[in-house]
Amino acid sequence: MRLVLFGPPGAGKGTQAQRLVEKFGIPQISTGEILRKAKADGTPMGTEAARYMSTGDLVPDEVVVGIVEERIQEDDAQKGYILDGYPRTLPQAEALDAMLERRGESLDAVVSIEVPTEALVERLSGRRSCPSCQAGYHMEFDPPEEADICDKCGAALIQREDDKPDAIRHRMTTFHDQTAPLMAYYQERGLLRPGDGEGSMDEVFGRITASLEDL
Ligand code: AP5
Repeated sequence: MRLVLFGPPGAGKGTQAQRLVEKFGIPQISTGEILRKAKADGTPMGTEAARYMSTGDLVPDEVVVGIVEERIQEDDAQKGYILDGYPRTLPQAEALDAMLERRGESLDAVVSIEVPTEALVERLSGRRSCPSCQAGYHMEFDPPEEADICDKCGAALIQREDDKPDAIRHRMTTFHDQTAPLMAYYQERGLLRPGDGEGSMDEVFGRITASLEDL
């Protein structure tokens, strides 16, 4: 199964992608995670990408298109994958189509997770993540057992630089201007499956899996 998880910052793409990985046994390909790892590893690409990410701008298309093209060729992605945070612009969507066509493949669905802006801000400002094992938390909705300590590996949790108020505002604008138009692109291709992203993580997961039952 080849899926795109689509939605604004904080909609729950990463949270739901991890659950879908367990259900379907296919990998999550998160461009945000790949870029953050490259930054943490201090690679030239990661250092360059960090300049855009810290303010909430998109990393240039040629960088992310190259990342996804490489990742999709790895062994664990041959039976399918969940794209989380990609594509985010029209050139990225066109590059994905061209790559799939070269490989004789196609997308099965684009699941759009829809959440009102106030809830997005609440989700993003309470998010914490583990810099060591990448586990994600929310201080109210999914808190660690001990404040600011990762349950899984004991590392100190951090707040993402782009989860601060100015960057959140800019990310919302970026989504609205550059990414939201892709909904029409996928609607026209009959791939878009809009889903209500409000409610508990389990409720949202139940709706997503129900919307994929025919695949
Ligand atoms: P990326 O990491 O992809 O960020 P994003 O799309 O802004 O999405 P988030 O990770 O912030 O949110 P999410 O939807 O995954 O929500 P989550 O599950 O964590 O990208 C970061 C940056 O990298 C971009 O700004 C850009 O610079 C660059 N980049 C990445 N991809 C790119 C691309 N293709 N092109 C160009 N640049 C790119 O949930 C959020 C919080 O809410 C968590 O704390 C979670 O616990 C909680 N939560 C989740 N679901 C619920 C629920 N149902 N109820 C209550 N709380 C919930």
